[in-house]
Amino acid sequence: MNRILVIDDEDVVRMLVMEILDAAGYTVEGAESAERALTLLETTDFDLVVSDVVMPGLSGLELLELVHERRASLPVVLVTGAGTYDTLSQALTRGAAGLVTKPFSHAQLQAAVADALERAARSREELRERLLAPTLASALANAIEARDSYLHGHCERLASLAVRMAELSGFSPEEIETVRLGAILHDVGKIGIPDRVLLKPAALDDEERRIVEAHPEIGDKLLEPLDLLAAARPIVRHHHERWDGAGYPDRLAGDSIPAGARIVAVADSIEVMSSRQLYRSSRTPAQIVAELTACRGAQWDPQFVDLALSLIESGELELRADGLRLLDRTEEPAAPENLAVLLVHGENEHAELLTDALERALEGAVVACATSAASASELLSSSTWSVAIVDHNLTDGNALDVLDILRSSHPTLPILMLTSLGSEETAIEAFRHGANDYVVKNNGYLDALARRVQVLVTA
Ligand SMILES: [Fe+2]
Repeated sequence: MNRILVIDDEDVVRMLVMEILDAAGYTVEGAESAERALTLLETTDFDLVVSDVVMPGLSGLELLELVHERRASLPVVLVTGAGTYDTLSQALTRGAAGLVTKPFSHAQLQAAVADALERAARSREELRERLLAPTLASALANAIEARDSYLHGHCERLASLAVRMAELSGFSPEEIETVRLGAILHDVGKIGIPDRVLLKPAALDDEERRIVEAHPEIGDKLLEPLDLLAAARPIVRHHHERWDGAGYPDRLAGDSIPAGARIVAVADSIEVMSSRQLYRSSRTPAQIVAELTACRGAQWDPQFVDLALSLIESGELELRADGLRLLDRTEEPAAPENLAVLLVHGENEHAELLTDALERALEGAVVACATSAASASELLSSSTWSVAIVDHNLTDGNALDVLDILRSSHPTLPILMLTSLGSEETAIEAFRHGANDYVVKNNGYLDALARRVQVLVTA
């Protein structure tokens, strides 16, 4: 059960907030001041803080900053009677997870708390997956490499080539991550193959070959219960299929072999040929190029062979006697990073004005404009964005729906809501639907907009 700390100097309000949250099933504790709250936070693990803004001593906004200095992921919902745009704006800029204005209904408070907790849980889960999947994959790969000293670093090296090939082939970030995991894990099924076969210094007989060729299926089965690595299973299972259909285990051919598996097949073969193996020396770069060319379209997908050959030719892929190396592209002079701004706006003329103003005010910014919810969705999935600005008045849809779509598909994208309705309810609604900030379209708002965008992207 989630544990919530409620801070308000007014006993009546604090008790009311605590009662409402208690009735909603949370475990609740109270503090009459920010100072007392900080002491409680030292000793007790809370999942969320609900704090008044105006209090004697430290204010709720100051408390918010101090809480985040200690634990950045702890969500803080602010309750304020001082309903000014400034308070709201400061709360958003300083990272409040929600804002409730007095007087509030039970439902409003419960919704703000539930929303903040859900978002915090989602980002924790995402972080866990991002960190855990590669760690788990590397641990499994190490178990294989530990059995054969010549294999040391093999999986990481071939993964670096496979990832580069996936990048150049226009894979999405998620697909690239899957290729990385698949490349690291591709031979995980060799865990099930005895040393006498795996490390045999001579040609394998039929029975031994059958045992070795079971490793993609064993690997696939091994990963079955691990949800975190599920996306890598097709690569693990199919990395020994051949373009001409003569591979194993399923004798898939051509495009029916998953693209990630076709990439890993090429990268794996290049890495194996270029590194010294047990009882076999490495091949020269010329021999590797000849082999790739000869088997292009038979063993391997010709487009990925061509891609690998172009990397060798350009010098980005080096074939050394101790395995392949990709030129570290971080050593190249980094191009100045341009801000990519997605502007979702209903009125064409106004959108042009905004685009000009933003491109002038934000150095190097590129602004792309979507004039409908539909085109916004399309643009969203086609590129990477630094920030999104959503106008409240859309012709073909509710801007709050656009916010929901943006927030669920891009949990970390800074989003700013632009509104001509100068009401706090609108701003709070925007915030509840995932906006990080809002700007009211009044005189001179273009400067404020550029400034807020700058703050959001540098936060
Ligand atoms: Fe393999």
